[in-house]
Amino acid sequence: MNLFKSFLVFIFACLTISTVFAVTVAQVPLHTFPVDDGTKSYYVTGKDGVNIFVEEKGDPKKTTIIFSSGFLTSRTSWDQQWYDPKFKEKFHLIRYDYRGIGNSDKPHTKPHPFVINSDLFNTKHICYSDNSDTSPYTFDSQADDLFALINKLSSKYDFKKKKIVLVGWSMGTPITLNFMKNYPNIKIDGFVSVSGLVNNTNVFHGVIETLFQDMIDPQEKFSRVITGLDGFIRLFPFKPFSNELHSFFLGNAVMAPIEYRLYPAIPFSFTEFYSTLTIPTLHIIGKNDSLVNIEHSLYFASLGKNAKSIFYKDVGHCALWENTKEFNKDIIKFISKI
Ligand SMILES: *[C@@H]1O[C@H](CO)[C@@H](O)[C@H](O)[C@H]1NC(C)=O
Ligand SMILES: *[C@@H]1O[C@H](CO)[C@@H](O)[C@H](O)[C@H]1NC(C)=O
Repeated sequence: MNLFKSFLVFIFACLTISTVFAVTVAQVPLHTFPVDDGTKSYYVTGKDGVNIFVEEKGDPKKTTIIFSSGFLTSRTSWDQQWYDPKFKEKFHLIRYDYRGIGNSDKPHTKPHPFVINSDLFNTKHICYSDNSDTSPYTFDSQADDLFALINKLSSKYDFKKKKIVLVGWSMGTPITLNFMKNYPNIKIDGFVSVSGLVNNTNVFHGVIETLFQDMIDPQEKFSRVITGLDGFIRLFPFKPFSNELHSFFLGNAVMAPIEYRLYPAIPFSFTEFYSTLTIPTLHIIGKNDSLVNIEHSLYFASLGKNAKSIFYKDVGHCALWENTKEFNKDIIKFISKI
């Protein structure tokens, strides 16, 4: 009886703990990354009550790096940086899952508002949501989520003494630019664009049009959507990903709802805003990027007032995994000087 009672108490304690704290459970890792490396995880409440999953580690007195991932990828796309001891030694690190991705909430709009018309690929037959006001996945709501995260940090740490550097990969770049534009009172000290884009007209290679149409199939036919996602992820690297790494990215991508998959079709341009930005900026560009064309990368970098560029040979859209050694070295060097 006593044993049974203690068992119940134990179960109850477990349940209570798991509802109060974000749970850390044993996992089977893709790599032999350390299980307990001091990462703290929690949720912040983003725009319209959407829960955004955040991870944090390192000494908060040091410069904070906030990593924003690419389209259809989660915070774990930064594993190669997150688990590099040199990053943890030198910086305070934050990464998070966008709304619609990973452990964050995935809001829906019903019914899905599809409209046939787009100049994204200079064609007139792509389906996308024209209803950008009601989409939960606008650039503005993503900027608000990032603000919620930074707001939480500012309540914990002395922001007057704090340096913050934003690192965005691919679509993470316009997301961070829009955050800086919408929240000019938050002091950001540096910016890194990894294979970033500053607008979405004539940016993508043609092959993406077909893949994108599959990905956003209005019938949501599973096999068609998967074909699109699979083909899209195969375009990330110059040399192919291992099967494990491909599955890792594909697994993250399939979790995103249709409304999320549609958002890059909403036209955007941060050209004007970026041209006014004077904080130190680094552009990392893969010379063999099959997603964002090189002309666009050069155009983007040329707009920077205080920008330098580093080009990687035999690297595609995913320098963070394709050339981790140089990438980590270059980013650490750049941010250390800020
Ligand atoms: C990779 O990029 C280099 C430099 O732009 C180019 O000369 C080369 O042809 C590209 N390789 C492939 C296979 O596209
Ligand atoms: C978008 O980028 C292209 C370069 O890829 C540039 O030619 C064009 O002027 C830009 N458009 C806007 C609206 O920012």
